[in-house]
Amino acid sequence: MKKGFNVAIDGPAGAGKSTIAKRVAKELGFIYIDTGAMYRSMALKCVRENVNLSDEQAVVSTCENVMVSIVYENGEQQVILDGENVSGLIRTQEVGNAASTISTYGPVREKLVKLQKELAEVSDVIMDGRDIGTCVLPNAQVKIYLTASSRVRAERRYKEYIEKGMEADIDVIEKEIIERDYRDMNRAISPLKQADDAVLLDSSYMNIDEVVNKMLEIIRNAM
Ligand code: DC
Repeated sequence: MKKGFNVAIDGPAGAGKSTIAKRVAKELGFIYIDTGAMYRSMALKCVRENVNLSDEQAVVSTCENVMVSIVYENGEQQVILDGENVSGLIRTQEVGNAASTISTYGPVREKLVKLQKELAEVSDVIMDGRDIGTCVLPNAQVKIYLTASSRVRAERRYKEYIEKGMEADIDVIEKEIIERDYRDMNRAISPLKQADDAVLLDSSYMNIDEVVNKMLEIIRNAM
C-alpha cells in the first residue's frame, strides 16, 4: 500500500489551523483531517446524554460504544457519529470545552488516535490537532506549530460567532480560550506542545493568505 505524505499541524484553539489547513490541502490536493472534530463529536454524545464530564468512567463507557468516522462531501470533511452527520452541531463553545475535558481521558484518545493513524497511512494528508506532530504522526515529513496571542484568537472566534448570528462576549471567549489552553497544555496524556522538529508560525500579525503562503512554501520545500 502507498505510504502517504503527512503534514502535522498543531496549536491552540482559534489559531486558524482548520481554515489554513483546509486551503493548503486544497492547493496541494491533499486530504484535510480535522481531529478536533472527532473529539467534539464524542463530546456531543456525552453532552446529549447528560454525562458528568468530570466522571472519567462514565465518559469512557459512553465513548466506548460510539462509532466515529469521517467522510468527504464536496471536499469537506463530515463527521459521522453512530450514522448521524453531526458536522453542523459540534462548532459551539460548549462542545469545544467539553471536547477539551473528555480528551484528557486515555481510552478516549486511544480510540481516536488509532483512527487518525489509519487515515494518514494510506493518503497524503494535512492533519490538525493538539498531538499530531508529537504523538499521532511522529514521522510526519512536515510539522508546523501554529499559534497566535489569546486576544487575537478570541477576536477571531468572536467574529465567527457574530457572523453565524450567535451571541458572543469577547472577554468570556478569551477567558475560555485561556482555560482551554491550560487544560490542553497541562493534561497528563499527549499534552499540546510544539514538537522538537516543528516549525513555529505565529499568526497574530499575519492574514490568512500570508499564513497559507508560508505553509505552502514550507511544505513544498520538504516535498
Ligand atoms: O481543535 P478543536 O478546538 O476542534 O479541538 C477541541 C478539543 O479537542 C481541544 O480543546 C482538545 C481536543 N483535541 C485533542 O486533545 N487532540 C487533538 N488532536 C484535537 C483536539
